[in-house]
Amino acid sequence: MNPHVTVSTLREMKKNGKKIVMLTAYDAPTSKLLNEAGVDIVLVGDSVGNVKLGYNNTIPVTVEEMLHHTRAVSRGNTNALLVTDMPYLSYQLSIEDAKVNAGRLIKEGGSQGVKIEGGREFANTVKALVEINVPVMGHLGLTPQAIHKIGGYKVQGKTAQDAERMVTDAKVLEGAGAFAIVLECVPSDLAQEITQKVSVPTIGIGAGPHCDGQVLVIDDLLGLTDGQVPSFVKRYANLKEESLKAVKRFRNEVQNGRYP
Ligand code: KIV
Repeated sequence: MNPHVTVSTLREMKKNGKKIVMLTAYDAPTSKLLNEAGVDIVLVGDSVGNVKLGYNNTIPVTVEEMLHHTRAVSRGNTNALLVTDMPYLSYQLSIEDAKVNAGRLIKEGGSQGVKIEGGREFANTVKALVEINVPVMGHLGLTPQAIHKIGGYKVQGKTAQDAERMVTDAKVLEGAGAFAIVLECVPSDLAQEITQKVSVPTIGIGAGPHCDGQVLVIDDLLGLTDGQVPSFVKRYANLKEESLKAVKRFRNEVQNGRYP
């Protein structure tokens, strides 16, 4: 069995040029599956809001919902580093809130780290969490909790000024003690520059091939997502179609008296 992945494993992987594999999970069986497949980081993403709970975006997701799903994922987790997203308004209003909510995800949920969206504006929050032994993953570029401000799911860091700001934000997060940084929907050359300029691993999603690792939403990878998926998504299976076929066969067989 593979040894348990920790934040130091990830640092070593970056140093040795070994790519980091991260996927989301929202329940115990999926968590078990990802562990069996040797995934390095399992993320209980607040994408659970749109992927599983039927919300339009991640904004309505609560700490209680993240706790519920983290507990389930934690029961299936054996070797991967388990990270949970801090949902909208669980860390933005005060450092005290951030400590209480992150502490709950670790203590009650069984998570081993948290992810927060944003740059320099959360440097003190990251520092405060690391001080109470909560490993923090940063998230720059397209940050879905800011979707109303950004005005749509589009590539970030396209102007020289925005790119420079993102490089500085990455350095600030590193300086504050973040153990890794997700780069979402960022031009490939900017993701490469950030990856070279920080010592902590970068994990890309729609950010090209130069990051230290890659992450996808599990339902996108498995072809379970209804409707359109971002252009960077590669579908490795088509489970929605397969499931639909299976359910229709069951319906037909019951209706025609062929099952049981
Ligand atoms: O919520 C999520 O699933 C995420 C990943 C896409 C990085 O933040």
